[in-house]
Order: sequence, then structure tokens, then C-alpha cells
Amino acid sequence: MSEASLPFNEKIIPIKTLGEEWERSIRNPHEFWAEKAKALRWMKTWDKVLDDSNPPFYKWFSGGILNICDNALDRHLTTPKKNKLAYIWEGEDGEVRSFTFYQLYREVNKLAKIFKNFGLKKGDRVAVYLPMIPELPITLLATVRLGGIHTVVFSGFSAEALADRINDCQAKILVTADGAYRRGKTVMLKDTADRALANTPTVEKVVVVRRTGQQVSMKEGRDYYYHDLMSKVEANAYVPPEPMEATDPVFILYTSGTTGKPKGVQHGTGGYLVWGYWTLKWGFDPKDEDIWWCTADIGWITGHTYNVYAPLALGVTSFIFEGTPDYPAQDRWWEIIEKHGITILYTTPTAIRMFMRYGEEWVNKHDLSTLRLLGSVGEPINPEAWRWYYKVIGKEKLAIIDTWWQTETGGFMIAPLSGLELVPLKPGSATKPLPGVQADVWDEKGQPSPISTRGFLVIKGPWPGMLQMLWRDPERYKQAYFSRFPNVYYTGDYAIRDPDGYFWLLGRADEVLKVAGHRIGTVELESELVAHPAVSEAAVMGKEDPVKGEVPVAFVVLRSGYSPSDQLRQQLVQHIRSTIGPIATPEAIVMVNKLPKTRSGKIMRRLLKAVLAGAALGDVSTLEDEASVEDIKATYEELRKQLEKK
Ligand code: WT7
Repeated sequence: MSEASLPFNEKIIPIKTLGEEWERSIRNPHEFWAEKAKALRWMKTWDKVLDDSNPPFYKWFSGGILNICDNALDRHLTTPKKNKLAYIWEGEDGEVRSFTFYQLYREVNKLAKIFKNFGLKKGDRVAVYLPMIPELPITLLATVRLGGIHTVVFSGFSAEALADRINDCQAKILVTADGAYRRGKTVMLKDTADRALANTPTVEKVVVVRRTGQQVSMKEGRDYYYHDLMSKVEANAYVPPEPMEATDPVFILYTSGTTGKPKGVQHGTGGYLVWGYWTLKWGFDPKDEDIWWCTADIGWITGHTYNVYAPLALGVTSFIFEGTPDYPAQDRWWEIIEKHGITILYTTPTAIRMFMRYGEEWVNKHDLSTLRLLGSVGEPINPEAWRWYYKVIGKEKLAIIDTWWQTETGGFMIAPLSGLELVPLKPGSATKPLPGVQADVWDEKGQPSPISTRGFLVIKGPWPGMLQMLWRDPERYKQAYFSRFPNVYYTGDYAIRDPDGYFWLLGRADEVLKVAGHRIGTVELESELVAHPAVSEAAVMGKEDPVKGEVPVAFVVLRSGYSPSDQLRQQLVQHIRSTIGPIATPEAIVMVNKLPKTRSGKIMRRLLKAVLAGAALGDVSTLEDEASVEDIKATYEELRKQLEKK
């Protein structure tokens, strides 16, 4: 987003926000969070709300004991929510399944019993590689019921990526499916899992959900069909929820950072659940009659917090969808909203921009009058997309809750809140920090940036939903988040604060891309590219994209003996798809003779970016050899021509 065009002065409908609650949360966090935590069911109350004796290793609700599955399910069984729908699920083929809180509780207990029989104990890891089907949340809940720690690997990741994650956390059990549906075709999930399993010595048991019914290989004594196991467990199986310390880890979720190896973000039980519960309540204030649709896959943090733990703990009905937004037709989502009477839609700017392109006719074919609130997440929402969402979907009546947060933050951090006091929205601004969040914008030196000037977004104190650390890597945790500015959480994002104190999020300040809202480390792609025999050097950059926000473009230098060809380009693309996964597919591979470097040998990323944006090159005095810039420009021009021809 270009800063000059931000509509600082455009104020649309007022919406409730933090006000007094924020003040109170900062003035007396202990009292504030003690009061909020009481909304959950505790087996034992905490001794200390926040133990900050060893920063940046913060302990929230230390001494407290609870179980997150008990809060999501058991606790509703003695209330009218017992027979209320927890999930309505629709498959890609239109099949609908639904579960009341009680029915979900029964399924979860049965699966927990199976895991228990497999020997799963408190602290053991369960890896999950599933499409968006009800068995996915059921698996997560069964795991945490026993005190297990889950790690979900998005089903668009490759066998290699799955194996790396399983090995990093040494998972004992893997839950996967025979296959998945994607645009009417089947994806071979178990085959991919099998390739991963060839290199994952810690996995003892594999549970396979039958989704597509395709033929798969099953290893005797290791692999079991989910439905076979479930049919053998008594229907009223009960496994008591394991009493967990509030500070015990609840899950690990791998995400990309600035180095090649994904980071195992570890969240803790008590703080995470308090944060999920309150952020959803403050942000969207869901009521008993609401049907909440968060379109994120449970493979990402958005799905963990807002498709599983927060809505279940609040006793909210969630709609979950297996398919893609525009299959079989471009109005699939609007048809769903009409059919199920969705009341809150929480989605991404990429989806909105895609629908914008399809045109409003598709939207206007449907009655969307059940909607009462809209949300956005995952990447900056440009004012144009915001206005379209507001006008075409919200009919200029519904507020847009733009939520800024990260895998590491556990839940919303900066967002307008429909549950508290009133402020006007501005198209493209996530407005203000939530209670408990001390956000600021700093310059290089760690001084507050002047108003309306771009700087780094930082969070100046701990909050309950923050990551506990990186899985078994305390040093990297400190280094990644608390070293840029000592003891202050570094988000890796650029932001501006406007004269009204509103925050405008401007994208990543580091080597991380947001491609269609997915977080992709450029260094990860670069390390995979140079691992290919044809490549000696690689630099991956983001290129602006009208729908996906940005897309990766790779500049590569070939080893001697290799020469540029479309075939080699295809091979390299395939290499990325099979080592990282289809979500990291480069938009283009530009083969160059040399990469532009500084005198100290660092790749001039700024320059590559300028080449991609077609912008002026600016100061090139730090370049070792300006001719290479010309090479790159020439090659890029060449490639663009080729792309245009197609
Ligand atoms: C990065 C975190 C938030 C959960 C899903 C993504 C970007 C996220 C917004 C927003 C502008 C946003 C940031 C952030 N981001 N939400 N509303 N406005 N940017 O979690 O994969 O950990 O990515 O997504 O750059 O750092 P994630």
C-alpha cells in the first residue's frame, strides 16, 4: 500500500471500541486479567496472574489448573448450550454435517479413548495433516483433552515440510486422511503422508480418516482407519479431561520467519484460552443466535483460535467449509451465506479482492441480509477492497472488523471492537490496540516514530495470548522477537500511527512475504532453490499482486553446465512445490548471470524489488558492478515479454 493514498480523514460508521477497558488493563493488568480469566472454568485458581520474573519468558496464570477441551465442551453440558449447534460443516460436494456441543463431546471422548489406548500421555505430540473436515477439530480437542500437544500441518504443505515438522517436535501419532477434495478433483493426502512417514522415526500410529474413499496403502500395525477405530469404541466412552497447568504448552504451530527453518510457535494453555475467548468476545461479540463463519483453514492460527478454541469456549455456533471459494461457481460463498443464514463473515483481503474481480452480479444474486458484521485478517486491506467489502457485501450498513495479529500473538491485537465503546472506522485501518496491548511505532533507534511516519510496530509489554517460546529453542525465541529492541516484542511489521491515534498496518518489514495471506519466508525458498543441482545462488522477492497482495519471484544464478530454459524453470517450480508445497509456488523464475551485491557481498534486495516494481532504481553507488543490474533488467524484461505472449 502506498502511504500517500491512505484515507486518514475518511471516517465511516462509528463502532464500539476499547476506551476505558484499555486504560484499566494497562493500569492494573493483574486485577484486569484476574477478572477476565474468571470467565473460564478452572480446576484450580492461579497463584499469580503474571509471573514476569524472567523476561521475555512470561508465565500467565501460573499455578492455575484447567483443561482447554473441558472449557470448549464439557462445561456447556450443564447449560442450554448443550443441544445447541457447535459446528455446521459443508463439504465441497455440498454435503452438510452438523454437531451439537453434546454430539461433539461424544466424538471427542471416543477419539480421546483411542489415543489413550495408543499410549498418548500428557505432553506427547500429535501431528495433524487433514483437510477442512469435522475430524480436524475433533482431533485437536481429543489431543488436548489428554494433555497432548498438537501440531497441525496445513494440507497444502509437501511431504518434506510435513516430515520436518513431525521430526522437529517428535510426534508420536499422525492423523491424516486418504485424500482431499479440491475443485472436484482428489488430492492424494495419504500418499504424501507416506512419503513423509518414510523419514519420521518417532511416529508410532497413524490414523486415516476416509474422506475420498480412494485406494491407499495401509501399514500393518501402524495405520488404522478412523472409522474402524471409532466403531470399536463404546458410544458413551468417557475420558476425563487431564488437569493441565495454565503454563503447560497446548499446541505448536510452525510458521515462517527470516531464516530457512520454520519456527515452532508454542502457545500455553491458560493465557491462550483467556486471550482467544476475550478477543472474540470484544471483537465480534457473538450471540447465541449468531452463525459465525471464519473462512480460515484450521491449518493456520486463525483457524486454531477462531474456528476451534475461542468460539467453542464462548459456546458459539461456527460454520466450517471444506471447499474453495469459487467452486463450482463464483457465488459459492454467497450461496452458503444465504443457505445457512451466516451472520458474521470473517475472511481475508485476498478473498475480497478475488470476488471484486468476479463482479458484484455474483453477490447480488443472493440474499445476504442475515449478515450483521464483517471481519478481515491476514494481510493489509487496501482502502479500495475495504470500500468494496463495505458497499457490496455490507450494503453500507455493516462494520468491518479488521484484525491485525500474528501466529505468535494467539489472537487479535489491533482491531475495532464491536463489544465496547464507539469510534468511527476508517477504510484500511485496523484502528486501535485491544485491552492489554501496548502497541507503538518505533524508528530504527527504538524511538517513537513521529505521527504519520512509517516505523516498526512493537508491543511493549506481555499479553496473555503471546507465544511462550519457540519449541525447545529459547535462544531463537529471544533472538527472533526480543533482540531487535531489547525486551520489547518486535512484530516484523511496518506501521503508521495517524493524528487520531489509529494504526495503519503496512506489511512486513523483514524477509517474510504474505502471499494470499499465507506467510512465506523468502529465505526458505532460497535455501530450497540452492539445494537444487542447477542453482548456485538465489534471491526471492515479493512482487505486488492485485489479488494475492504479493507473490514470490525468484532470481537465480545457474551453475556452469546449465543454461536457462522453460523446462528448467518448470523443474525449479516443481522443486519448490515438492519441497515446501504448492502454496509457495513462485510466480516467476528469472535466470540471471549475477545477482546485484553490495561491496560487503550482501544481495541488494532493495534493487531487485525496484526492478520488480518497475520503479526507479535510486542510489546504486553501493553496487559492486552496475552491469549486473542491467543484466537483471534485461532478463526481467525478457521474461515479462514471454509471460505476456502466453
Ligand atoms: C502477519 C502474521 C493474523 C492471523 C493470520 C496470519 C499480517 C495479519 C493483518 C491485518 C495487516 C496483517 C502481518 C502479520 N497481517 N493480519 N489485519 N492487517 N496485516 O498470521 O501467518 O502469523 O501472519 O500477517 O504482516 O505480521 P501469520
